[in-house]
Amino acid sequence: MNYLFEHLLLLLSLLTSLSLSLPHRTINVKRGGTIQSAINLAKPGTTIIVPPGVYTEQLSITTSHITLIGHNSILTPPSTFKNNTCTNLAGGGTQAGICISGSKIVLQDLKDFNGEHLKVLSVGKSIKGTTITGFTIKNFGGLGIAIVGGENTVINGNTVTSSSQYGVLTVGSENTKISNNVVSSVPGVFQFYFIGICMDDRSSVTISRNDISSYFIGLCVQTPRANVYENYVHGVCAGAFVDPGVEGARIRRNRFADTLPSCPANTPVFSSGVTISGGIGTLVEGNRFESLRNGVVIVDDDGGDNGGTKVVARGNVVLGNWFRGDGVDLVVNSTGRNVVRGSGCRTSSPQGICRIHLY
Ligand SMILES: *[C@@H]1O[C@H](CO)[C@@H](O)[C@H](O)[C@H]1NC(C)=O
Ligand SMILES: *[C@@H]1O[C@H](CO)[C@@H](O)[C@H](O)[C@H]1NC(C)=O
Repeated sequence: MNYLFEHLLLLLSLLTSLSLSLPHRTINVKRGGTIQSAINLAKPGTTIIVPPGVYTEQLSITTSHITLIGHNSILTPPSTFKNNTCTNLAGGGTQAGICISGSKIVLQDLKDFNGEHLKVLSVGKSIKGTTITGFTIKNFGGLGIAIVGGENTVINGNTVTSSSQYGVLTVGSENTKISNNVVSSVPGVFQFYFIGICMDDRSSVTISRNDISSYFIGLCVQTPRANVYENYVHGVCAGAFVDPGVEGARIRRNRFADTLPSCPANTPVFSSGVTISGGIGTLVEGNRFESLRNGVVIVDDDGGDNGGTKVVARGNVVLGNWFRGDGVDLVVNSTGRNVVRGSGCRTSSPQGICRIHLY
């Protein structure tokens, strides 16, 4: 009886592992060929290898478990775009260089566009296991890379330049990992460039070891428990912006430096290393804040973005950070209870709150 049972279990586990391990196939894009035609041929489990060169096309990936590997492969905008799930995502007429999307995605109506991006209302079926590495994505006006309804997406080791609305945007997704990318606009200019990397996901996003510069906002943190670590964010207005009501984000061991001189002078929330605007339970730990107009800024949200509901910043913890050469290291204007501890901060607004608990 036991013997039979064990064999049944073995058979079962064999069957499961067979159905889980996908067939591996490689497609090499030929010189002069398009990447999209390879994507269209790819079945789940396919790796697409792209040789060096300039590819004048947009890419749309809707099949799960595709790995796209570039070797100095440069993607630039085609003269005309086809519409896909990412069309209008960052405002009317915007398109993405690479659009990774699940199916039956329902986006917020364009007429309700809030000036940032369309929210994902529902995802029919998510796209799983996409990996993009080794690309330079250049000059796409709207978005460099957009992930809509993804699961276990990996964006690693790419360069995204001059995407005016978003370098990389992940929305309505789970377990996205964005690491080791260089995301910048035109050096020293932010006016027409909005956000470097933005996460507005359902859960478990990791943003690590990216180099982000020359955007109005470096990182937008809108995913609960977002894990943001070891990024270098410089030459922007707000390094990381934690949105109202976002809970439990962890911002650790990043380096925030060099507020752009042209950033709004009278609003500390938009000239800072980290701004927590009505964020809840954020951990800001072990970061370096250098040559910023303001290091860490904690404010209540006045409800402008929330249909008038005020969100009090509370339970935020600023711990063991390193400040050098900032205008003001710490700005707190919140009625909530937040904690600052062991931070080497010297200057604050109001004065004298650098090394004490706040209530
Ligand atoms: C593509 O989307 C844009 C923006 O919504 C729209 O103006 C245009 O008509 C669409 N094109 C096609 C072929 O559907
Ligand atoms: C603090 O925030 C309130 C709104 O929440 C604002 O009216 C006030 O001017 C701010 N104070 C300072 C010193 O910035």
